[in-house]
Amino acid sequence: MSFRSAKVVNVEELGENIYRMKLKLMENLNADPLPFQFLMVWIPRVKEVPMSISDYVNGSLAILFRVRGRGTEALSRARGFIGLRGPYGRGLNLHIGERILVIAGGVGIAPIPYLVRTASRTGSSIGVLWGVRKASEVICEDELFQGVKPDFFYVATEDCSTNYCGTAIDIAPKLINQGNWDRVILIGPPEMLREGCSRFIEINPMVALESIVKCGIGLCGTCSLKPLPMLLCMNGPLYKCSQVVDYLEHS
Ligand SMILES: Cc1cc2nc3c(=O)[nH]c(=O)nc-3n(C[C@H](O)[C@H](O)[C@H](O)COP(=O)(O)OP(=O)(O)OC[C@H]3O[C@@H](n4cnc5c(N)ncnc54)[C@H](O)[C@@H]3O)c2cc1C
Ligand code: FES
Repeated sequence: MSFRSAKVVNVEELGENIYRMKLKLMENLNADPLPFQFLMVWIPRVKEVPMSISDYVNGSLAILFRVRGRGTEALSRARGFIGLRGPYGRGLNLHIGERILVIAGGVGIAPIPYLVRTASRTGSSIGVLWGVRKASEVICEDELFQGVKPDFFYVATEDCSTNYCGTAIDIAPKLINQGNWDRVILIGPPEMLREGCSRFIEINPMVALESIVKCGIGLCGTCSLKPLPMLLCMNGPLYKCSQVVDYLEHS
């Protein structure tokens, strides 16, 4: 469980209450992480929080987060050095040339820039539908995807401030039916995942889950997906809907 130290390069508020922190690693990761893997981010004198890898290239790493409580609030103000453990979780192995549709809600967009970057290396194509509540939460494509862009990026807003009016789950059926997708991935708050799994049951999408993660290495049991016999840090965060219906019903 060794820590790497990382220098905070900058922290920007990209949308209302959504921050991106860019970090320079003092020591590179052993290998390139897989999309959807996460790190344990230690904020000195505050606490440690799990965060998805939002981008990673040549020792430069980004996390994207919403301020929720003490840890993320401190992270939004952090300067100097922080500590990192990981990457943890199983992540997604991309197949050459595959087509993936991502349906993301809110800060669930965090790991998608790194998915898009990795896909560009494997010739895979990624379409992204992102749902947020209101105009102030929207982040423009150029800001979110730095250097490598998805095949398309549609933003749905519940206040109808973009062309796509409604939740991402409302808009998704048309996109699901239009594309010949190898995988559909849902990521966002539990209520969105519950609804998505039930509405798109016939295609059995993948879902990226969150739970409370402490050790990240299968020892403490806090990330258990009760009532299922699964630990998110060991076999998550990506599952097929059919594997986790019982967890989603209770979360
Ligand atoms: C694998 C993984 C990857 C994650 N990636 C990201 C990311 O990329 N960006 C991001 O913004 N957040 C991400 N999160 C969630 C993030 O870790 C929490 O928001 C953070 O730990 C909250 O810490 P805090 O001290 O700010 O809030 P706390 O003071 O710990 O909690 C504030 C409130 O948020 C609730 N809460 C805290 N953690 C979670 C959680 N995991 N799920 C549901 N509710 C929670 C608490 O119950 C409490 O009500 C991820 C979580 C996991 C497990
Ligand atoms: S976080 Fe400790 S077992 Fe998963």
